[in-house]
Amino acid sequence: MINDEPRIIELPKILDDRGNLSFFENSKQIPFDIKRTYWIYDVPGGEIRGEHAFKTSTEFIIALSGSFDVILSDGENEMKFSLNRSYYGIYVPNLYWRRIENYSTNSLSLIVSSIPYDEQDYIRDFNSFKRIRNETKAKYGL
Ligand code: TYD
Repeated sequence: MINDEPRIIELPKILDDRGNLSFFENSKQIPFDIKRTYWIYDVPGGEIRGEHAFKTSTEFIIALSGSFDVILSDGENEMKFSLNRSYYGIYVPNLYWRRIENYSTNSLSLIVSSIPYDEQDYIRDFNSFKRIRNETKAKYGL
C-alpha cells in the first residue's frame, strides 16, 4: 500500500509483579498477515543492517531487548525511530528505504514480515528505489 505511513504501534502490556507480558496476534495488533519471523542478534558495535527497501513486503520491528534506531526514507525525507522497549514497535510499509543502526550490546530485534523470504522483493540500490517508488505512486495517481 503505497499511501501507508510508517508508525509506532503500541502493543498490549500485561503488568505483573512476576514480570510483564506483551503480545501480538496475526492481523490484530499489526495491520497485515504474518508470513515470516526473523531476528537479528550478536550485532558488533557500529554495524548497520537492513539497508534496502522492499517492493511489496511490509514489516513490524520490535526491540525485544536492548535498543537500536530504525532510519526510514521515502526517497526525500529521513525519519528516525529509536526502539528501546519490548512493548512497542515500528510498522514499516513497503517502498520505504530503511536501515537499522546504533545497536546496543546484546540487543535483539524481532521482525515480522507480510511475505515469505524472496530476494526478488529486495531493492538494494537507493536510486532504483526512488524510481520504483515514484513509478508506483504515479501508477496509483498519488
Ligand atoms: P538481508 O535481509 O539481506 O540482511 P541485511 O539487509 O541486514 O544485510 O539478509 C541477509 C541474508 O540472510 C540474505 O542473503 C538471505 C538470508 N535471509 C533468509 O534466508 N531469510 C530471511 O527471512 C532473511 C531476512 C534473510
